[in-house]
Amino acid sequence: MCGIVGYVGAKPALDVVVEGLARLEYRGYDSAGVAVLADGKLATAKRAGKLGNLRAALEEEPPPAGTLGMGHTRWATHGPPNDRNAHPHVDCTGSVAVIHNGIIENFAELRAELEEAGHGLASDTDTEAVAHLLEDELKAGGGLAEALRRVCRRLEGAFTLVAVHTGDPDVVVGARRNSPLVVGVGDGENFLASDVSAFIAHTRDAIELGQDQVVELRAGGVQVTDFEGRPAEVQEYHVDWDVSAAEKGGYDYFMLKEIAEQPRAVADTLLGRIGSDGRLRLDEMRMSDRELREVDKIIVVACGTSYHAGLIAKYAIEHWAGLPCEVELASEFRYRDSILSPTTLVIAISQSGETMDALMAVRHAREQKAKLLGICNVNGSTLPRECDGVLYTHAGPEIAVASTKAFLTQLVAVYLIALYIAQVRGTKWGDEVFAMVQLLERMPEKVEKVLETMEPVRELARSLAGERCVLFLGRHVGFPVALEGALKLKELAYMHAEGFAAGELKHGPIALIEKDLPVVVVVPPRARAVLHDKIVSNIQEIRARGARTIVIAEEGDESVGPYADTLISVPAVPTLLQPLVTTVPLQVFACELATAKGHDVDQPRNLAKSVTVE
Ligand code: F6R
Repeated sequence: MCGIVGYVGAKPALDVVVEGLARLEYRGYDSAGVAVLADGKLATAKRAGKLGNLRAALEEEPPPAGTLGMGHTRWATHGPPNDRNAHPHVDCTGSVAVIHNGIIENFAELRAELEEAGHGLASDTDTEAVAHLLEDELKAGGGLAEALRRVCRRLEGAFTLVAVHTGDPDVVVGARRNSPLVVGVGDGENFLASDVSAFIAHTRDAIELGQDQVVELRAGGVQVTDFEGRPAEVQEYHVDWDVSAAEKGGYDYFMLKEIAEQPRAVADTLLGRIGSDGRLRLDEMRMSDRELREVDKIIVVACGTSYHAGLIAKYAIEHWAGLPCEVELASEFRYRDSILSPTTLVIAISQSGETMDALMAVRHAREQKAKLLGICNVNGSTLPRECDGVLYTHAGPEIAVASTKAFLTQLVAVYLIALYIAQVRGTKWGDEVFAMVQLLERMPEKVEKVLETMEPVRELARSLAGERCVLFLGRHVGFPVALEGALKLKELAYMHAEGFAAGELKHGPIALIEKDLPVVVVVPPRARAVLHDKIVSNIQEIRARGARTIVIAEEGDESVGPYADTLISVPAVPTLLQPLVTTVPLQVFACELATAKGHDVDQPRNLAKSVTVE
């Protein structure tokens, strides 16, 4: 939520900042704004709406050229998305500007205190209070960095803050608590951003900032302290993808590109984790064989699409690793009296590694001394740092708001973990694990095959653009796939879409079936005869009540043909791996249907990519 960019160097800051904002717009697009320091003066510009509005305003009235600046793209929390509430916010003197991601929980108190002291606040935001607090602290001396440290000590909640001040014309200062901020290290120039994609065109060398740290960014160097001003240790890393990964590469939307990248993303996530002897190597889990054998329960915590990957993890872990596995929405987990112990393994799944609910769930599990494993796509994000071990999904940057390739790679990660635990605990014979690993290695080509046959799905999607509601049914791992299909359609096409476990149909949802209602059914492989036959009966039941059936089944499954108004065939794979092929048509379906409705699939309304507030 909210994208932040800061720059100091020799280039025109406005160009660098606006280019960075364009790469971060997926984080929020309610408004955008910039601040530039030039000739000792602060110039700001901001506009409600997408970055295009700000660009137009900047063209009409360009600010003076400077080589130090910052920019913000907003996902509104406090105050409606209008020009007034857009960031940057300035103090009474117009000499300090601040941008912010997160929520300052004690802002009402701070605001009252500031108003009483005579400050005039012009917006409804929590952020503006920080600009005025800085104004007061700057009067006490010590410069902008020291003022920000003092202000941060007074703030409660989650925040990334970046500030500039005319009195410190060579420095951009940033602070972070529970909200992302990374430093890009250049040659004679340095960058700050919510994520590396904002500066990847300029440098691939980055610094991870820790919790409660303040960074001073100058053209010649970077200095990091804690909120008390003590020098802090930081970790540098090299980003292993380049700017082309953060661009559309000829596709109309990032989402289309990311769907197409899935075979490669799946292959990359397997890479280096399977030894030449066929045994899995997951040293990244940082758990000894003894510790893994001691685990007696697994709890998976995640949100949204990542939660759906967690639901599939449960089937894989219980089947292969023979361990009880609970799956919990991260936002619910810490408000429940979940039973955890040092022999519980908590697996937190998060594409961004910055989802506040997931981070809070991890901290809750840590307090109860559980072991913590992250599955994450973003190097340098917070979640991996808070876990004992992390399995990175190598999906590359996922920029479209709706998660696609990250989901498939999360599935690969959970399969690897479940099979690895089975290998270590001996719950499956070595050759069974090996056989499954070999099948996993063939999944990129299966996903590729699905992608090659998507034209009928696109046609179907276009024909359904006028519908108001679509239902999704599945059984076993097909149930989370149905939930995922429904979520994609909701968030992209703004349609009523529900996923159900097909077995629940007769316990209520069947009342929703009416003539011509589109119902997507995910059919398990024929090898799972009982499951398969039961869902075929479900298809007949809904068809008898007039539903329009859209059936996803494995190639060669003749039994469903007679009951399918539309049949989508996917390659035959083992049941547990089937979500890797059945999810793809649902992603394509939602993307095409939303596009047919004229929606921007990369930036659906009201959403933001990385949900850094609870
Ligand atoms: C849906 C979607 C969201 C995210 C959720 C968790 O397409 O993208 O539901 O899956 O916000 O995000 P991460 O995985 O970053 O924790």
